[in-house]
Amino acid sequence: MKQIVVLISGRGSNLQALLQAPLPGRIAAVVSNEPAAGGLDIAKRAGVYTAVVHHRDFPDRDSFDRALAAGIDAHAPDLVVLAGFMRILTDWFVTRYAERLINIHPSLLPAFQGVHTHRRALAEGVRVHGATAHFVTPALDHGPIIVQAAVPVLQGDDEQALAARVLAQEHKILPQAARWFLEGRLRVVDGHVQVDGARATPATLICPEEA
Ligand code: GRF
Repeated sequence: MKQIVVLISGRGSNLQALLQAPLPGRIAAVVSNEPAAGGLDIAKRAGVYTAVVHHRDFPDRDSFDRALAAGIDAHAPDLVVLAGFMRILTDWFVTRYAERLINIHPSLLPAFQGVHTHRRALAEGVRVHGATAHFVTPALDHGPIIVQAAVPVLQGDDEQALAARVLAQEHKILPQAARWFLEGRLRVVDGHVQVDGARATPATLICPEEA
């Protein structure tokens, strides 16, 4: 059975989606950098081992990342998932888990890297926004894209409404990316991801539509 370690920082709704998904693997541990992360309770209720590696306990990123890696390696994971993990990781850490580290980001990358993606999307007036599941490389929010989901930005949207629409899609594509990975269906060729057996997407999203 393939082993998965999930890293979180907060509420843990993406973790919940992973726990509910039919994955060909087992979530062996959930590790949080925030002791108060709600996702820790979700993991405990599901009977999953939890650990906290609090970034404030370490003098610098390097020592934090090394402690985090020790917590992860205890479970010998085949896959490490960043599910709302809000710390910037060192190149050392990212290289250690190269090609088995995936992240969910709440925008259609490469647009809106970094934080406050929904606020910035609204400020730019984009009509289409979304989420991206991608492999993690040392460049922040820049690794090979596995799958993206697009949603419309609707007139009258505020940050909360848009975030909720995007989050619903995160909950679909993060487990989908994890499942494909665990099934051995992802290959990175020249920095781009190929998915074995993926269907072409038939629909287009035009926003707004003609009345
Ligand atoms: C998600 O929107 C994720 O993309 C972002 O932080 C949020 C985490 O939500 N980086 P949750 O903890 O999974 O509920």
